[in-house]
Order: sequence, then structure tokens, then C-alpha cells
Amino acid sequence: MSTTNPATDVLRSGYQRSVAEYWNNNPNDDRVNVVLGEIDGLYHHHYGIGAIDPSVREGSEDDRDTRIINELHRLETAQADLLLDQLGDISPDDHLLDAGSGRGATSFMAHQRFGCQVDGVTISEYQVGFANDQAAQRGVSDEVRFHFRNMLDTGFGTATRRGIWTNETTMYVDLFELYAEVARQLQFGGRYVCITGCYNDVTGRSQAVREIDEHYTCNIHPRSEYFNALAANNLAPINVTDLTPQTIPYWELRETCSLATGIEDPFLRGYREGSFQYLLIVADRIAD
Ligand SMILES: C[S@@+](CC[C@H](N)C(=O)[O-])C[C@H]1O[C@@H](n2cnc3c(N)ncnc32)[C@H](O)[C@@H]1O
Repeated sequence: MSTTNPATDVLRSGYQRSVAEYWNNNPNDDRVNVVLGEIDGLYHHHYGIGAIDPSVREGSEDDRDTRIINELHRLETAQADLLLDQLGDISPDDHLLDAGSGRGATSFMAHQRFGCQVDGVTISEYQVGFANDQAAQRGVSDEVRFHFRNMLDTGFGTATRRGIWTNETTMYVDLFELYAEVARQLQFGGRYVCITGCYNDVTGRSQAVREIDEHYTCNIHPRSEYFNALAANNLAPINVTDLTPQTIPYWELRETCSLATGIEDPFLRGYREGSFQYLLIVADRIAD
């Protein structure tokens, strides 16, 4: 089950403590995550992709909001499915790592799909408890485990992982440190998958990006930094996709929902003006 380390070992800076505090106690943003998670027990902390079913906006107004909430959840799950599609051939004997695992939904989907061992790490003790309770309820505690650990120093063995992903977590850490730790844990030929928001080097850090950073206590990186940090750590990109056009419909729908938090406006502004981009990056661990 969960490996509990003293918080001082895991949270090594004032910044990391403030990020942990945010994820331990974020009632405003949390409402949308909880309500969507209650639909089928997959509690995501990321955004959605894909076309919206037009029937959601049609029909009776009485249950329109419920239809929108269900659709937002479907799009979030589609995002996690797309991420898992990139991991390649994973066998039941393999081990995967969900770096910055939130309430664990992507880990559960990975286990269901591949039948393999999955470890999730997060610096929120609350999330570790929540996700391990979910694992117990699902009867998968021996295969899917969540740990109070820092993804910059997980304590897992060298070359033990066939795949590692970061689903909207990289904006909280230094990418060079993170990718050194990802490369250490990946086997030769192992795969790293990332979905992230990044800012466009060509436009620079916009007002919209600054507002998102402030809202989430994060530090959105420029697009170029991902590729510099991957190259510096023997991680060779095999697929890069700009998901921005695929995520805009999610945000447009979310803006019309009773669960909107107010952060929809800077996301849509940033995406539409081209200063903020939603990126999928897939890379293989190559030799040192
Ligand atoms: C936006 S949430 C994404 C959660 C999850 N990946 C998902 O898609 O549902 C960001 C997550 O990153 C985690 N996180 C931030 N910094 C971290 C660090 N240094 N080590 C481990 N987890 C971290 C937070 O605790 C939170 O769980």
C-alpha cells in the first residue's frame, strides 16, 4: 500500500509545500473533479479532448447541465485513453509509473487495459489516501499502489519501468530534474508519455498564461524547454502532437456548465490567441 515518508523527505522546498497544500485542500477547483468523478468512479484531475456530442446542447433544459457534466467527463476519459494509447506494447509483467497521479484515474485505466503493476506518486497525502482507498474498493491494491513520494526522487529502482507518464503534472517541476529521474527509472526502449500545457516560445509568456500559473500555483514551461530537457536526458521524441484544437471544445463546453470555476476564460484566450498550447509528447529511452 502507500509508502509514507516523513513530509520533510518528500517536500523539499517552500514551493513544493505550497503545491502539496493546494492539492490537499482546493475546494473550489475540486468540486468539478469530484462531481465528474462520481459519475463512474474515475476521478481525473486533467482536461478533456475530442469533439462534443451535439445532442448535449439540444433537448430539455431541465437536465442540460447533467448532460454537459457527463460529456465533460467522457472527454477527460478520452484524454487519458489517448495518453495510454501511446505507451506501446505493455505486458502484464511490466511496471508503469504515473508521475503526479492525482486521485489515480489514469493508473486504474492503465491497469485495466494492460493488467500490469502500476505505481502512482503524488506529493498530496490526501490524494494518496483517496487513491489507495479507490484501489481497495476496486480490489486491485496489490497491483495499483499510490505513494506519498516526489516524482523528482521517487526511490524506485533504476531501469525498472517499461513506461512512465506525466498527465498535466510537469508544470510543477524543473524539467531537467524530472527527465533525469524519468530516464533513470526507464528500461532501454521504455516509453515516456506527457500531456501538458506549455507556452509558445514564439509569442512569449502571455497574460493568459500568467493567470493560469497564478490560479494553480504552477510554472508553465515554454514548449522548447521540453525538447531541450528530453534531449539532455536520453529521451528521444517519437511523436509530438499539438492537441490544442482538440481541447478547445472541452473548454467551450465547460464554460457553459454550472461547475465552471472562472479559469475557463484564460485557457480559451491563451489557446485561441496561440500563446498557450496543449501538447502530447511521446519519447523513447535511448542508450546513454
Ligand atoms: C493537475 S494534477 C494531475 C493529476 C493526474 N495526473 C491526473 O491526470 O488526474 C497535478 C498532480 O501533480 C502532483 N504533483 C505536483 N508536483 C509533484 C511532485 N514534485 N511530485 C509528485 N507529484 C507532484 C500533484 O500532487 C497532483 O496530483
